[in-house]
Amino acid sequence: MQALGLHDDVTARLRDALRDASRIVVFSGAGASAESGIATFRDPEVGLWRRYKPEQLATPQAFLTDPALVWGRYGWRRRQVAAAQPNAGHLAIAEWGRSREVSVVTQNVDDLHERAGSADVVHLHGEIAKARCFDCAAPYPLTPEPEVEGEGPMSVEPPVCGQCGGLVRPGVVWFGEALPEREWAEAKARCRRADLLICVGTSAVVRPASLLPRLAWEHGAAVVQVNPHPTEHDEITEFVIRGTSAAILPRLLEMATAS
Ligand code: OAD
Repeated sequence: MQALGLHDDVTARLRDALRDASRIVVFSGAGASAESGIATFRDPEVGLWRRYKPEQLATPQAFLTDPALVWGRYGWRRRQVAAAQPNAGHLAIAEWGRSREVSVVTQNVDDLHERAGSADVVHLHGEIAKARCFDCAAPYPLTPEPEVEGEGPMSVEPPVCGQCGGLVRPGVVWFGEALPEREWAEAKARCRRADLLICVGTSAVVRPASLLPRLAWEHGAAVVQVNPHPTEHDEITEFVIRGTSAAILPRLLEMATAS
């Protein structure tokens, strides 16, 4: 069984917090999907932003400058996500949601929380499986997935909107863009009423999403951090657990539900 690396008294307090919590928010980032084989953004060696500058790929200006480069890269990542499977961390969160009120507020654009069985998932940064017109925002269906010849990331011309003839863009939030209003409001509402927030797999440096753990904490929630590395939120975190999502979340579920 995975040890949590906490003192006995802290472990006892954590067990109480997990057992007593009735409104739980899991705030997840790229690290939650790392053990499903999806690269994070900032981890050394594997982080996506180590290989590409955000402004080359993840801004409206980048798309307008070279739509085929951006559309092709996102298509590649979309196919990676479709081939990936939820890991033990996603599954534990979903399992917990069968007996408690568990909301997932995620910065991830994959659908691994939903595929694991979580019912209440708020996507702050959009969804990679969706697309819409850059000009008129009309949704563009991506099922079936457009055929692509070859492997790996490559330039692919984006489709054209059937309504206005504009270019179709990935349904994700780019740097310099606002979060979707409804999702942002729902995320804040869930954090304000949470009695426990589990922050998993996020460096929590991208605003405004990164403000949510503090919002929950200011409204009285206990904060648990699950991450192999330190983050800026450790200072408001009563329970800092150094470990990976797939190793630690099943352990937390066990503690929450043990009689
Ligand atoms: P980051 O890549 O910034 O951070 C990933 C975090 O996950 C780091 O703190 C790692 O230590 C941790 N980590 C790595 N492997 C882990 C594992 N197996 N289990 C648990 N934790 C692990 O990713 P995010 O914080 O999600 O935004 O990045 C936030 C936003 O920045 C993204 O949503 C994206 C990006 O730019 C947009 O695209 C708008």
